[in-house]
Amino acid sequence: MTLHRTEAKEPAAPSSLAPEGLRATLAELRRLAELPLERGQTLPSQAYTSPELYEWEVERIFRREWLCVARAEEIPQPGSYLRLDILGTPLVITRDEEGELHALSRVCRHRFMDLLPPETAPEHGCLERLTCPYHTWAYRLNGQYAGQLAGAPLMQRVDFDRAGCRLPAHRVEVWNGFVMLNLDPGAGPAAPELRGLDLRLNSHGIANWVSVHTQTWEGVPANWKVAVENGSENYHHMGTHAQSLDPVLPGRYTEVDECDGRWFTMFTPLSDAERGGTGLGRHSRSGRGARPGMLIAGIFPQFVLAVLPGSAISIRWLPTGPATHDTRITAMVPPGVPDTPGFAEQLVDIRAQIARIQEEDLVAVRGVQRGLDSHPTPSNGRFSHLERPLWQFQRYLAERLL
Ligand code: FES
Ligand SMILES: [Fe+2]
Repeated sequence: MTLHRTEAKEPAAPSSLAPEGLRATLAELRRLAELPLERGQTLPSQAYTSPELYEWEVERIFRREWLCVARAEEIPQPGSYLRLDILGTPLVITRDEEGELHALSRVCRHRFMDLLPPETAPEHGCLERLTCPYHTWAYRLNGQYAGQLAGAPLMQRVDFDRAGCRLPAHRVEVWNGFVMLNLDPGAGPAAPELRGLDLRLNSHGIANWVSVHTQTWEGVPANWKVAVENGSENYHHMGTHAQSLDPVLPGRYTEVDECDGRWFTMFTPLSDAERGGTGLGRHSRSGRGARPGMLIAGIFPQFVLAVLPGSAISIRWLPTGPATHDTRITAMVPPGVPDTPGFAEQLVDIRAQIARIQEEDLVAVRGVQRGLDSHPTPSNGRFSHLERPLWQFQRYLAERLL
């Protein structure tokens, strides 16, 4: 997949006006986004509960922004497909005969049928054509003709333009092995905005790492921003993960880099005890300088990558409504590692750790949403210096929503 490197960003579609009912919430967002970190405060509770704001976020952020939706190796070879639903849009990512990826609508052009209904089609697999299970219209996967009708039985007696019948395609790019998708046909390329982040990730070679485990938590009862904010700070290691992560990666020693815009990075060194021990500290390749630890790279609005010594975890959140979202977590390891002796046990360990940490995070995420739904709700909670990415997130939101 070629990345476009030089195209200028096309002008955004004429911007619509924010609904009247959001005036107070957006005014508060503007005020917060102008505060220095030293006086940084939480968003008001309405920002996490208002259906109107959610619709506005979908229109101004999720339908315009590059979203990380999968790992490219989940669609490994010509004919591979992966079914995805994004913000109520049924999609399928396919790889054609040339190896190019496409993000196609899954809605049949005949009578709206889902081409890969979850009741009968696996989430991923391999196909020569996308054949609608209703009246068997078949669509091509091959590059130039991607999404074009290849066959529609018993349609000869009517006036029907086959050649013009194709599944709409959305923009797709591969960044460091991740499939990025944009629902806005006029959006600029994804890569330029992430170039600075590439420089910080380059030494890890993440693009070639292989996924070894993916798990999805559907319908988590919290606004998507609650989950993104939870994943964007390690301050909570000392509470939420006091018995699990904190002894290994003490959140208090996290060094948060000064970033602005769409992405952020931070680094948590391994604890002294762990470095001398036998756990994660036995590897020393992933770290900052000579120090082993965890590098976190986040891309707003919905992606965080944690690079650990010898493994990495990516988390992708997708909203499914004002107060619900899906969380998808993928574990990756460097190429060749899955073939090493003892990897099966290591994988059992990786899966167990992800499940444990995620259960702990879900307690926090659900608990925060219950607090946001309460009346009266407290406001203006102050940020620690370790919550810099949340402060940056407000500035990102202000830029997109105001
Ligand atoms: S709806 Fe797909 S072939 Fe009829
Ligand atoms: Fe956490």
